[in-house]
Amino acid sequence: MAVVISLGGSMVNPDGIPDAKFLKKMKALLKGKEKIGIVVGGGKIAREYVKAASDFSKAQFWLDTMAIKATRLNAALVAQALGEEACPSVFEDFEKAAQASRQYKIVVMGGTVPGITTDTDSVLLAEAIGAKRVLNVSIVDGVYDSNPKTNPKAKKFGKLTYEKLLTLANESDKRTAGTNFVFDVVACKLAARSKLELHFVGEKNINEVPKALSGKAHKGTIVK
Ligand code: UTP
Repeated sequence: MAVVISLGGSMVNPDGIPDAKFLKKMKALLKGKEKIGIVVGGGKIAREYVKAASDFSKAQFWLDTMAIKATRLNAALVAQALGEEACPSVFEDFEKAAQASRQYKIVVMGGTVPGITTDTDSVLLAEAIGAKRVLNVSIVDGVYDSNPKTNPKAKKFGKLTYEKLLTLANESDKRTAGTNFVFDVVACKLAARSKLELHFVGEKNINEVPKALSGKAHKGTIVK
């Protein structure tokens, strides 16, 4: 059984400095038998570079292209941190990643093309390697009815349908370079077409990654 993890860049590199402690923790949490594909996000480095470049150019294509480089830098760090079980190369296309996944327990990617996010890349990689499940591991420990960073009364969903996730995603998806949203709307639609289970876990419930990897109940959000 294969599983894909969409790993938020803000977990790997919260403030522009890589979090070595988190990377060690992640390595320990991925000790199970599953084959794993990991797509790493851009986090703060992507956002800061997009912000700086936006003073000079508003061309979303080039801003996205720059942000993709940040995702690949974070991905290179993750591939190194995971040691021998992970292929040391960071893949830039799905076919090569899928081929390598036959030899390695773990393959790591960053972003691929402008206009999408690593959520969509994760779902596509899941389709490519025949994974049945995608874990979204980010700062936020599940899907909420409003932004928990700004609304202390925000309520976390335990379970959601694809339709409900798509509605929430549509409300927050601004589709501009470097912006954060619950889950990419394209990723929602692709997950629904392939009936991929989506599991949202985060910083607060990070120890539940092994449960989510094996499809067991946890304190985050499950979409199916
Ligand atoms: P992500 O938006 O996927 O990173 O990619 P992230 O997971 O949010 O990082 P966190 O959640 O803040 O920790 C960062 C940016 O890279 C570009 C987009 O501009 C996106 O906003 N990107 C990423 C692409 O253009 N194409 C891709 O395939 C992936």
